[in-house]
Amino acid sequence: MTSDAPPESTPEAGRHSSPAADTILIVDFGSQVTQLIARRVREAGVYSEIAPFTQALEAFERLRPRGIILSGSPASVAEEGSPRLPQALFEAGVPILGICYGQQVMTHQLGGEVRPGHETGADALSRGGEFGRAFLTVTEECALFDGLWRVGERHQVWMSHGDKVTRFADGFRIVAVSDGAPFAVIADEARRFYGTQFHPEVMHTPDGARLLANFVRHVCGCAGDWTMAEFRKTKVEQIRAAVGDARVLCGLSGGVDSAVAAVLIHEAIGEQLTCVFVDHGLLRAGEAEQVVGLFRGAYNIPLVHVTAEARFLDGLAGLTDPEAKRKFIGKTFIDVFEEEARALGGADFLAQGTLYPDVIESVSFTGGPSVTIKSHHNVGGLPERMAMKLVEPLRELFKDEVRALGRELGLPESFVGRHPFPGPGLAIRIPGEVTRERCEILRKADAIYLEEIRNAGLYDAIWQAFAVLLPVRTVGVMGDHRTYDSVCALRAVTSTDGMTADVYPFDAQFLGRVATRIVNEVRGINRVVYDYTSKPPGTIEWE
Ligand code: XMP
Repeated sequence: MTSDAPPESTPEAGRHSSPAADTILIVDFGSQVTQLIARRVREAGVYSEIAPFTQALEAFERLRPRGIILSGSPASVAEEGSPRLPQALFEAGVPILGICYGQQVMTHQLGGEVRPGHETGADALSRGGEFGRAFLTVTEECALFDGLWRVGERHQVWMSHGDKVTRFADGFRIVAVSDGAPFAVIADEARRFYGTQFHPEVMHTPDGARLLANFVRHVCGCAGDWTMAEFRKTKVEQIRAAVGDARVLCGLSGGVDSAVAAVLIHEAIGEQLTCVFVDHGLLRAGEAEQVVGLFRGAYNIPLVHVTAEARFLDGLAGLTDPEAKRKFIGKTFIDVFEEEARALGGADFLAQGTLYPDVIESVSFTGGPSVTIKSHHNVGGLPERMAMKLVEPLRELFKDEVRALGRELGLPESFVGRHPFPGPGLAIRIPGEVTRERCEILRKADAIYLEEIRNAGLYDAIWQAFAVLLPVRTVGVMGDHRTYDSVCALRAVTSTDGMTADVYPFDAQFLGRVATRIVNEVRGINRVVYDYTSKPPGTIEWE
């Protein structure tokens, strides 16, 4: 269900609406973590927009930002054709913070010197590159450090650079040094230009978020009063501008992301939105009723509920290979959605709850609009087939921000706080052949497990918890009878983005209670085991 070449997306389309009064422009030079800068700026209560370096000038004129942040990049300033900031922006009179490559490009464009070194590993290190955790020493006071770092202190930061500044441009001075980067932080307070060789936006720079907050609030003078309510308002305007009076279809998966996207879009365009919920019969206990109840009942959003259990389960008969199961479900999902969309008379736009971690974007070094996007979604392939454009209002958000937006939109906590659930549903939690009977057994075990987790007050501390029904039968004894039934595995992990995960360390008593209940209450299961594998090397789902 991954599409490498999604169709034209329109998150930019509505951006010509009036921006927030206090805006920060983030210029993207192709770093994989540019969105983290935006997130930290949002956390400081300031609105920001990201523009690729090729469109930085237009974005500046449109937004009139109070400050600019230059991202990192995998490029080297010494490389032919590597990205540059439009020179005019250095004369625009607003503060600039350059991060890593941003610092280097600023230095280079203002007349300083950057020593190249594209090598990684030992070569780069021998030339002064630094990768990973590093410590810097504060040598002078600086507005970025206000209330945070004092002269003489050492602080942990995250470095990732081969190139480094070797002579700063006129007007700058060094305010912090590290072993590998004598220009760890530089400042030109007259022009309010700052550069950090390290990455303040990543978690491994523990004070990074506060350094960025100092920049946007103290240096740039932003008030810091931007909220999720503002985001909602801006997005609603953008969606209206992008969609006009066209029709939008939204595929609901039952998960948080598509639900939040749908409610937001409905607020923007009302009845122009129709939601289609394809119930493939592989949902958890009570899930379909909850989705239908919420959309039709609480929000009065037009919803087409397609019951396609037979089609999915009949097609899954005999399939045991995990990829074959996934592919069949993905394709059938699109077929069903497409049929429904046609029956509704089609639409110009398809709405999706794509989040930032689902999107890997990078700006091509040669400039131009050739942005590479990879997105992961439940109805991949459909927009191309039906020539639909995409509306993806959550593209710049992380999961916890989507939950905050859901709360802002008034979605019930029981819905907003739900654990993620994969598109292929229970099918990938039933290794081997999926049957109605096995889905039913798994649903019961899963419901007991989640009920116990909720009763223990652990639900919110866990990223995702679920039961898996194994294609293994073992011998047991219940009462005076021999049993020969299936094994159920329990999984619970903590994570921040699903990319890596740790096992949730339940106590033995809790696991014992769940195991006893499942074996006693679910016919067909006579043994319960706990999955103690982190990701990597395991994945979160079993298939
Ligand atoms: P894995 O198993 O790859 O899962 O470690 C990481 C996260 O992604 C979810 N997942 C999916 N979500 N469609 C989805 O919408 C899918 O095909 C899919 N496969 C896995 C999984 O539940 C976990 O949160």
